[in-house]
Amino acid sequence: MRATWGSKIGFILATAGSAIGLGNIWRFPYLAAQNGGGAFLLMYLLCVIFLGYFLLTAKLAFGHIAKTNFMDGFKVVKPDVSSLWGKIGGSLTLFNIFAVSSIYVIIIGWTLSYCVAAVNNLVGAAKIKIDENLFTSLTSSYGEQLFWILLCMTIAGLILMKGVKSGIEKVSLYLMPILFFLLLFMAGWMLFSPGTKNGFIYLFTPRWEELGFLKHQFNWHQFSHLTLLALGQAIYSLSLGLGTCFIYGSYLKEGSGIKKSAFWIVLLDTCVAILASMIVIPAVFAFDLQSNQGPALSFITLPFVFDKMIGGSFFMVAFFMLLFLGALTSLISIYEPAINLVMEKLHLTRTKSTLTVLGFNLILVLIVLASFTHLLDFGKNLFDLVDYTTGTYTMGAMILVYCIFMGWRISPRLLRNLHNNKFIFKAYFRFVLKWLTPAVLVILFFSA
Ligand code: ALA
Repeated sequence: MRATWGSKIGFILATAGSAIGLGNIWRFPYLAAQNGGGAFLLMYLLCVIFLGYFLLTAKLAFGHIAKTNFMDGFKVVKPDVSSLWGKIGGSLTLFNIFAVSSIYVIIIGWTLSYCVAAVNNLVGAAKIKIDENLFTSLTSSYGEQLFWILLCMTIAGLILMKGVKSGIEKVSLYLMPILFFLLLFMAGWMLFSPGTKNGFIYLFTPRWEELGFLKHQFNWHQFSHLTLLALGQAIYSLSLGLGTCFIYGSYLKEGSGIKKSAFWIVLLDTCVAILASMIVIPAVFAFDLQSNQGPALSFITLPFVFDKMIGGSFFMVAFFMLLFLGALTSLISIYEPAINLVMEKLHLTRTKSTLTVLGFNLILVLIVLASFTHLLDFGKNLFDLVDYTTGTYTMGAMILVYCIFMGWRISPRLLRNLHNNKFIFKAYFRFVLKWLTPAVLVILFFSA
């Protein structure tokens, strides 16, 4: 029998757990810091409100109607369509799952390693200086990174083997409240910490020139660049370019209220991104550091800040634990659609399917890691290449395929499933799927 969620709150927290991850706590703050703070936040909010919410709702509804794996979903919902839909949509999904997880698991490895180092420092078991040298030595060591990766994959694998209700849902029910509590506490602390005011002003005040609205002219290039960055982040953060929303929707029982659930998931996801930025950006401003650090912001700049703060060792533990917990619930959600596919297509048990998916992923991780640490030379750093390709092309391409299918082939069915008579945005919903998202994605491809 197909698995289902045990409760509505379990489903909401599990899907929010999928959405909330490295994207919110690691990626969003550095993107906001690099791209004008408030301007980026404003653009991101517009993308999430006008596109993200509707895409999430549609993908959950599609999965809910299909109640099967992401390859067969197209044919099950509309038997007369060409099998090409499933082949193209399914292959893109599969590519994204394995490409994204290969990168994701390496970064989670860093967070777990930092977590352990921070705990050691806090309890006085060892004195490890968490600084640039630690990051450089960690990221250049194949063996050390592999150790943390294997540990993370084992934890994720054990949760996944337990199944949807007793594994994914249960873990989310415990972890998500801990994550929210930690975030609220740390953001509240920052609010009352000295020197953080300018950081908050930077984060919450959109400066029009950053959006391209200069005094007497409009800078289209700047505007489109910021829009694309914000949209890409919304797609990444809401896990829209993976098979997750589809498969989590397929585990929903009848009458689960998808529209309202999607609202809560988007709200929680956005709040976490803002709260994480309320920790990272003001902290950096308080110590007069460069806010445009990019990916290293969380792993190099922030530990430096925590080191100088009162109660900094506690903050260090809390922050990296937060990052690890968020990333873990996302990682399991990235693997789940592939596990479900193997279970249904190859008729394997959940345990064997989990081992198959994780085993295959491990082979890819070994290759990407070898390239990342310069053990093997592929002419290009595969870590950057995979990250760029998924972020710029394949996630967008997958959403494009799904949008065209959902908008042009099954939108009446989706709307019936969403109780269209009570859905005040139904015309806009159709417009988003049929026109707006495809148009925006095509512009995105051309500007990449
Ligand atoms: N949605 C996941 C994240 O934000 C992938 O990290």
